Amino acid sequence: MNTTDFIQKAFQTHTLTVQELTAILEDDGNKECLFKAADQTRQAYVGDAIHLRALVEFTNICRNNCLYCGLRCENQAVPRFRLTPEEILSLARNAKSYDYKTLVLQGGEDPFFTAPKLAEIVREIHKLGLALTLSVGEFSYEDYKLLKEAGADRYLLRIETADKILYEKLNPGMSFENRIRCLRDLKRLGFETGTGILTGLPGQTLASLARDILFFKEMDADMIGLGPFIPNPQTPLKNAATARLNTSLKVVALTRLLLPDINIPATTAMETIEPDGRLKALQCGANVVMPNIAEGEYKKFYALYPGKFSPEQAPLEYKEYLRKQFTAIGRTISKEFGFRKKAQ
Ligand code: 5AD
Ligand code: SF4
Repeated sequence: MNTTDFIQKAFQTHTLTVQELTAILEDDGNKECLFKAADQTRQAYVGDAIHLRALVEFTNICRNNCLYCGLRCENQAVPRFRLTPEEILSLARNAKSYDYKTLVLQGGEDPFFTAPKLAEIVREIHKLGLALTLSVGEFSYEDYKLLKEAGADRYLLRIETADKILYEKLNPGMSFENRIRCLRDLKRLGFETGTGILTGLPGQTLASLARDILFFKEMDADMIGLGPFIPNPQTPLKNAATARLNTSLKVVALTRLLLPDINIPATTAMETIEPDGRLKALQCGANVVMPNIAEGEYKKFYALYPGKFSPEQAPLEYKEYLRKQFTAIGRTISKEFGFRKKAQ
């Protein structure tokens, strides 16, 4: 069996072993075949409409110290900002007026934004009739419950890597078990739950990426966001190599093949590393784009990694630009909320 047969197997059965996944990742010659199978699967299961999610990065203050991230608490070179609840709500109203169906609130683990404080904001956004995704890190079961009851629909919490040893090396002071506990709690509470990884991390192997993909399947993730690792000069990993976009794209394609009905964004890091990275991802399995709708100067300080892509145009203009890009590859903008529709 060569890797073309493995791709065919994934296309038909949506299953692969760790050895088969690794073999596909190792083979540099199968890209076209893999991307085509993933694109066809994407079209058959989630269609041609792309879900847009309005992204608001509302605080770059974080108590954690992840080795790869520019927002790590030990980085004193990045100016910190925190939007007020009123500023967040004003951006939510803007998202509604731009005809977005979903708002994503993303932030560092900022001690100011306790679960009760976030819940107040969630209640107001819920009243606007927007679907709401939170991406604010680790909380207790009770806290997640409060946020769910306040009206949050979805939650993103990347596992970053499903390799416990690598995870705890890259995320000092954090526990892999607690990360898993969070993801389980979110699922149990009825959040549409998203996770994801960084590809090309120092010390990560292709077999490890294969296990990450099986982890997504095992936990039945509803959304998978992943991107290439980009070394940040303000972090301890400043001298590490930049990841290859191709590896990220292959992981997107394999994730689509194994979890055919989920939502997969073309992420900002893919676009940062290559100008048409987003379009490439949309043509090998991705079906979601998350444009940043913030307009203030502060947004450049959400500097996870250098050169982080951010739209130059005003939000509505940018949405029009996206529509044109999508049309050019035969795709449309979805008018729906874009919840996962589970295949039978
Ligand atoms: N390169 C790429 N992605 C990064 N993230 C953090 N730092 C980097 C980096 N240097 C990602 C993490 C995190 C998300 C918000 O940003 O995966 O979950
Ligand atoms: Fe904080 Fe997230 Fe950056 Fe880690 S990756 S330092 S949790 S913002």
